[in-house]
Amino acid sequence: MPSAAPFHSGQRRVLRLPLSLSFQYLPRPWPREPHANRAFAKAQVRPGPDTQTSSRRDPTGAGRPSLPAAVVTYALAMALPTPKENTTAIVTGASSGIGAAIARELARRGHGLTLVARREDRLKSLAEELAEAHSVRAEVIAADLTDADSRGALPDQLAARGLTPDILVNNAGFTTMGAVYLSDRAAELAMVRTNVEAVVDLCTLFVPGMVTRHRGAVLNTASTAAFQPLPGQAGYGASKAFVLSYGRALGAELRGTGVSVTTLCPGPVETGFAETAGVTDEEAAQSLPKFMWVPVDDVAKAAVEGLASGRPVVIPGTANRAGAGLAHLTPKALLLPLMAQRHPALKGGPAA
Ligand SMILES: NC(=O)c1ccc[n+]([C@@H]2O[C@H](COP(=O)([O-])OP(=O)(O)OC[C@H]3O[C@@H](n4cnc5c(N)ncnc54)[C@H](OP(=O)(O)O)[C@@H]3O)[C@@H](O)[C@H]2O)c1
Repeated sequence: MPSAAPFHSGQRRVLRLPLSLSFQYLPRPWPREPHANRAFAKAQVRPGPDTQTSSRRDPTGAGRPSLPAAVVTYALAMALPTPKENTTAIVTGASSGIGAAIARELARRGHGLTLVARREDRLKSLAEELAEAHSVRAEVIAADLTDADSRGALPDQLAARGLTPDILVNNAGFTTMGAVYLSDRAAELAMVRTNVEAVVDLCTLFVPGMVTRHRGAVLNTASTAAFQPLPGQAGYGASKAFVLSYGRALGAELRGTGVSVTTLCPGPVETGFAETAGVTDEEAAQSLPKFMWVPVDDVAKAAVEGLASGRPVVIPGTANRAGAGLAHLTPKALLLPLMAQRHPALKGGPAA
């Protein structure tokens, strides 16, 4: 396989492949979802003497022998914009869990951050940690994303700080639990506003500027719950299916603009997610097999790597990728009654 080296964000990825290894660029018999930034990247290709080879083991390529004369040089602009002094990556839901881990991963790659969530104290301590550890500018904006006015104020708040958003991570989210007929109206609506409305609103607010500047990357956090309806978390599953569908469509619209869209679909991850849903860690651990749980740092790393290489969808963990595919393909008439029977939040109800 060609290199997947730990490039610094924004660097041009330059692959130099012997002809025999270039089969992956030949037409395939089945359609493949396009690289989010491929058309834009192609226009920038300037193979020349400064091209380097690199690999995961040897990122600089210094220790590698020169390749034979017959080589194919293929350059692909990274989907992640190069960090600049006045650019920032907005990360919503950065006060804990996956959002905090994504913020750490972006800071490690040199990106300035604007951390958004309600718990300002947590955001501030993360901002201090990132600024100290990675010498990046880390800003904090405390906001309730269910509130349209708070969301609408974000562009001006960034502009007032002299910041241009070139990465948007829509990660804030939570789930309610239990049957819809027993649900709390306010909680259901807050979930839809956070998981769906805020994603649409922030994309609508920030993507146009990215398109005008021809640089930008959007990462939306969905879930493996996006691949099938989810009895017991009906609104949550539907909200994540929305995020996946929306991200894929948006990515297709933005092809060739220099702006890419990646949808992250994690399976179970140990974060504050279960606690917010009123589930104990023990109950959460028992709800899904151990091999499906992926550590939060691995999820964040996969997400940012997927974003950097313009991947439309990232599902961390082999078991989750297989599970998502299977759930998507299995006839729902078979799958859903089983899921309703097994969901812990529906135990004792009519579906059990
Ligand atoms: N953990 C999992 O198993 C799992 C699996 C699949 C997908 N996901 C998705 O991953 C994303 C992150 O979840 P997590 O696992 O990291 O859970 P988490 O630790 O509970 O983090 C959720 C984040 O969302 C923020 N948030 C919630 N409501 C908000 C609001 N109204 N306004 C602003 N921020 C809000 C929270 O911040 P404040 O409370 O400070 O506002 C927190 O930072 C969510 O979209 C979730 O659906 C999680």
